Amino acid sequence: MRKKIIAANWKMYKTPAEAREFMEKFVPLVAGHERDEIVICPPYVDIAAVVDGAKGTNIKVGAQDVYWEKEGAYTGQISPAMVVGAGCEFVIIGHSERRQYFGETDDTVNRRLEVALEAGLRPILCVGEVLEEREANITEDVLRRQCSRAFRGIGSNKAAKLSIAYEPVWAIGTGKTATPKIAADAHSIIREEAAHAFGGEFAQKLRILYGGSVKPENASELMAQEEIDGALVGGASLKPDSFAKIVKW
Ligand code: 13P
Repeated sequence: MRKKIIAANWKMYKTPAEAREFMEKFVPLVAGHERDEIVICPPYVDIAAVVDGAKGTNIKVGAQDVYWEKEGAYTGQISPAMVVGAGCEFVIIGHSERRQYFGETDDTVNRRLEVALEAGLRPILCVGEVLEEREANITEDVLRRQCSRAFRGIGSNKAAKLSIAYEPVWAIGTGKTATPKIAADAHSIIREEAAHAFGGEFAQKLRILYGGSVKPENASELMAQEEIDGALVGGASLKPDSFAKIVKW
């Protein structure tokens, strides 16, 4: 059995004061919850507040992205060492919103993934097809391409800390959720690609999360699927009681 990871992606929501307030309410709601790993990925400026609020709990913290250079004249960028130093254990890499709005490509995803792993972070690599790709029946090609390019040049010894999130873009923030069958099919394609790149044993242990309109109402049905090893939650992770219900699916 793979321990599930229930991760919040706060995207561009919450000030540090709002992050602190969330933690005050959320921490008691999930106290003693050991069945799943709980992760919160806030905006960079909220990391300190979330790390502080998570002290003495089993809640882990992640960043939403990192740049691939160690340091230098790169105004506005954040390095893997910086987020590690700020108390992050996780980092999201290649989220579809970064691909859609900020020029992220399979190649830059690969560079970020490599440095994140080197820094000892636990990356959550995001892959997923857009609606036109699903309708054109090329979902499988898209997932295989996104995975194989992201994995390029990364040795199986380095990949141990990797997790993947399958986030069909048509399900993000739309209220449409992939059926358990759609998610399970995508997850097995991703697992095959991981086996191809890093070996069967690695692939069996790899956690593949589902993301896209996960809510308290649908979390248990999705999480009950053997192929689904957790959730990456956007909108429904912003309220303490709603995210706590998903954690306790
Ligand atoms: P929603 O849960 O708001 O659909 O967002 C999913 C997502 O993009 C998580 O990374």
